[in-house]
Amino acid sequence: GLKKKEVHVLCLGLDNSGKTTIINKLKPANAQTHDIVPTIGFSIEKFKTSSLSFTVFDMSGQGRYRNLWEHYYKEGQAIIFVIDSSDKLRMVVAKEELETLLNHTDIKHRRMPVLFFANKMDLRDSLSSVKVSQLLSLENIKDKPWHICASDGLTGEGLQEGVDWLQEQIT
Ligand code: GTP
Ligand code: MG
Repeated sequence: GLKKKEVHVLCLGLDNSGKTTIINKLKPANAQTHDIVPTIGFSIEKFKTSSLSFTVFDMSGQGRYRNLWEHYYKEGQAIIFVIDSSDKLRMVVAKEELETLLNHTDIKHRRMPVLFFANKMDLRDSLSSVKVSQLLSLENIKDKPWHICASDGLTGEGLQEGVDWLQEQIT
């Protein structure tokens, strides 16, 4: 068949937000793993959609590894930024990391679509995607197409909507 267009995506966000869980869920059932552990450094993952072949740089969100992120910015054509919607205490940290990311010289002037997952929507005390969007001041992002979806990385709810949007932005 036709070779799918290849896209490199950076998966970023604080530790424990659910990045690896989400990427794992996007893989075909027989390629998914059951024991997900905190990412050390980063890991390169692949999954396909109807028209695209994604290579994902699944970065560790732990503070001590966040300085690795910027070394991969040039490689990325799109960003998936994951937020734990139940982690109200660290919403401001997520906001700071997002601002630093979007102001980086390798990101700032490029048209890179940014997909936000307001993850862990299943938890009782999680914030809505609208609320997360307000707390992160996403309305201030003027120079990049962005989209936010509520998601549940454990069941996969909300992931398809996000990936459909991303695919539309790229193709
Ligand atoms: P780092 O690799 O350390 O940056 O973390 P990460 O963002 O990759 O998070 P990871 O996927 O390892 O998930 C962290 C924890 O959150 C795990 O215990 C997951 O099972 C859990 N988790 C992920 N997504 C969800 C979700 O949507 N709902 C709930 N309730 N738990 C989730
Ligand atoms: Mg991880």
